[in-house]
Amino acid sequence: MKRLIYSSCSSENIDFKIVGEILTHAVKKNKEKSITGMMVYDGKYFLQCIEGDEALIDDLWKKLTEDTRHHSLYINGTEFDDKRLFPDWNMGYMNNRQEIQKIINSITGNKIFSPETLNYTHAKLLLLQLSFIL
Ligand SMILES: Cc1cc2nc3c(=O)[nH]c(=O)nc-3n(C[C@H](O)[C@H](O)[C@H](O)COP(=O)(O)O)c2cc1C
Repeated sequence: MKRLIYSSCSSENIDFKIVGEILTHAVKKNKEKSITGMMVYDGKYFLQCIEGDEALIDDLWKKLTEDTRHHSLYINGTEFDDKRLFPDWNMGYMNNRQEIQKIINSITGNKIFSPETLNYTHAKLLLLQLSFIL
């Protein structure tokens, strides 16, 4: 199983409502492909983990890079693993700024959510801890 974590910045016309719609579609598609993961959105930045069959993850990554609803995509890291980090979520979603900042602060000492500056371990930890409070 391949896991990929990336960060991106939402395009100007994107708001929480549109992200909700992106998510509904994503959950449906991911379910069909046994893709699991977790996504964070604070109104500006995305941080998302996708995990599943290597070919399907590579295929989704290509689609993500072509999606104009976000830009400045940056891969925080990838790895292969036998176990999923988010087995219960076809795409978990957190958009509570306070919770995001609280956990970012406890992991990095930083108050600001700036996902492209997170190393892979910190990004994984943030997503995992946020998934626990969903
Ligand atoms: C921030 C963000 C996260 C996304 N996450 C997913 C995802 O987890 N799964 C997915 O299938 N599409 C996701 N999408 C949408 C894809 O970029 C693309 O539009 C979609 O895969 C196209 O699906 P379809 O042509 O098969 O309907 C996401 C888009 C954005 C902007």
